Amino acid sequence: MKPSPEELFKRNIEWASSKLATDDKFFSKLNDIQTPNYLWIGCSDSRVPANEIVGMDPGELFVHRNVANIVPHSDANCLAVIQYAVEVLEVEHIIITGHYNCGGIRAALDDKDHGQIDNWLANIKDVLKENYKEIMDLKTEQLQVDRLCELNVVEQVRNVARTTIAQRAWRNGKELTVHGWVYDLKDGLLRDLKVDINNAQQIHEAYRINSK
Ligand code: CO
Repeated sequence: MKPSPEELFKRNIEWASSKLATDDKFFSKLNDIQTPNYLWIGCSDSRVPANEIVGMDPGELFVHRNVANIVPHSDANCLAVIQYAVEVLEVEHIIITGHYNCGGIRAALDDKDHGQIDNWLANIKDVLKENYKEIMDLKTEQLQVDRLCELNVVEQVRNVARTTIAQRAWRNGKELTVHGWVYDLKDGLLRDLKVDINNAQQIHEAYRINSK
């Protein structure tokens, strides 16, 4: 049975008590300051709970989620999160985490009309277009979806690195690494795509901003 909103309040009380049982300063410590070293940019999918997957407590992970973990060049929401994370919280790692069998990726791959969300998913269609032959040569729809999940992560890692925010951080000598990971719903494990970017030399010249 699906829990009612009232049930959620009950569970919240239980959760807060369990935290206090192990550390009676748990909430008072967090009330003053958050010092996460990671920004997680992941999919909104309910099966991919950011903190839980990497065993992190409140205060340890700054999180932004949207459908299919996209970082569009001019998305004010996502860019505000990245700026706050890098310039105020001074996180040293930004992790783009996609997941296999992503519904957003699947929708971007078909030619049906899903309404407004197709405009959002056009960001993924751009990735599909750039890798069209590789994807279409794969034998099954599942393989196509999963490969596009990976290639989308690679592109979004680049998009983070292309922002004025990341470039300014590197210009100012700050440590900042952008990572690309994929989560597998089938076994609960993360896989590192090993596409880290940690300096401006790794981004295409066309996007490079070298001085004021
Ligand atoms: Co998804």
